[in-house]
Amino acid sequence: MTTSQGSNSHQIPSNPRQKILSGMRSTGFLHLGNYEGALRNWVKLQEQADLFCMVADYHALTTHFEDPEQISRSSREVARDFVACGIDPARSVIFLQSHVPQHAELCLLLSMITPLGWLERVPTFKEKKADLAADSVPFGLLGYPVLQAADILLYRPFGVPVGKDQAPHLEISREIARRFNRLYGEVFPEFKNIIGDEAVLPGTDMRKMSKSYDNCIYIKDSEDETAAKIMSAYTTPSKIKKTDPGIPEGCAVCQYLRVYSPNWESQWNEDREGLRGCMQSKKECIESINEYYRPIRERRKELDDHTINLMLKEGAEKAAEVASKTLADAKAAMRFA
Ligand code: TRP
Repeated sequence: MTTSQGSNSHQIPSNPRQKILSGMRSTGFLHLGNYEGALRNWVKLQEQADLFCMVADYHALTTHFEDPEQISRSSREVARDFVACGIDPARSVIFLQSHVPQHAELCLLLSMITPLGWLERVPTFKEKKADLAADSVPFGLLGYPVLQAADILLYRPFGVPVGKDQAPHLEISREIARRFNRLYGEVFPEFKNIIGDEAVLPGTDMRKMSKSYDNCIYIKDSEDETAAKIMSAYTTPSKIKKTDPGIPEGCAVCQYLRVYSPNWESQWNEDREGLRGCMQSKKECIESINEYYRPIRERRKELDDHTINLMLKEGAEKAAEVASKTLADAKAAMRFA
């Protein structure tokens, strides 16, 4: 059932200008893994298409419903991270999912035509369900992909830039759209998965970078915080002395060098051949990361709450303009008028 093709940003037709939609859950500050896995690509895409960047605060509730205060705070921080990293609010639309009520309404309509089996088979649902007691699995967690389908379909985008982990969600969105079109008429055009070619950045312990593993370097981290995290990051365990050979493929510091250091190839060779120690690599890694993020972090500090709230208000208005048209078409197709 792999009907979606990965496609590069270069293949976006420019005439008429296409829309691109993507989102991130607001469960905390964004980290370098979020940047490399998604944001860096979004920043490029806004050159070629109308980019809609959504903070998925309703989706954050599926796992954090006990802490709405934290979601609310995180939503603003995620929006701040978006702008600091280069999403330009003058050109792209940055908004909160909860500010555009059309998402909830289309989600309800789509839920009526979505077979339970499609949702029960989703890998992320199965994983999260396994972590919970049987009688405490929220309905919203099961319905997660239906809300995501509404997020996407409301904007009739050319494509959705996401990481590989989101492919099953996009496939369900596609299936829901096809089913809707078959039942009620062509309302939702096909969309593509836009897969960037960015490196996957591991956490400081070499597992996937994730808040729940406490192995993240955050965009908002200070240079000192970044340094402390790199200093204790995972390196080749058998490399104790400088002259011991390293295995850069399995070393977090070397992985960061590959992304942020212009001369990573010689650094990797020296590591492999026992010509450099981990301490030297760590120091250079700290410099490279801090240098790359310095302008981003400076911009981040300048964005006060007032600016962010104003931007989100304007973003919601622009998003609702598009979303309300699509929702009206969907309701008319279903004979709600
Ligand atoms: N599920 C996505 C994630 O965890 C976030 C998301 C919500 C999203 N709605 C979306 C991504 C719509 C793309 C399109 O990263």
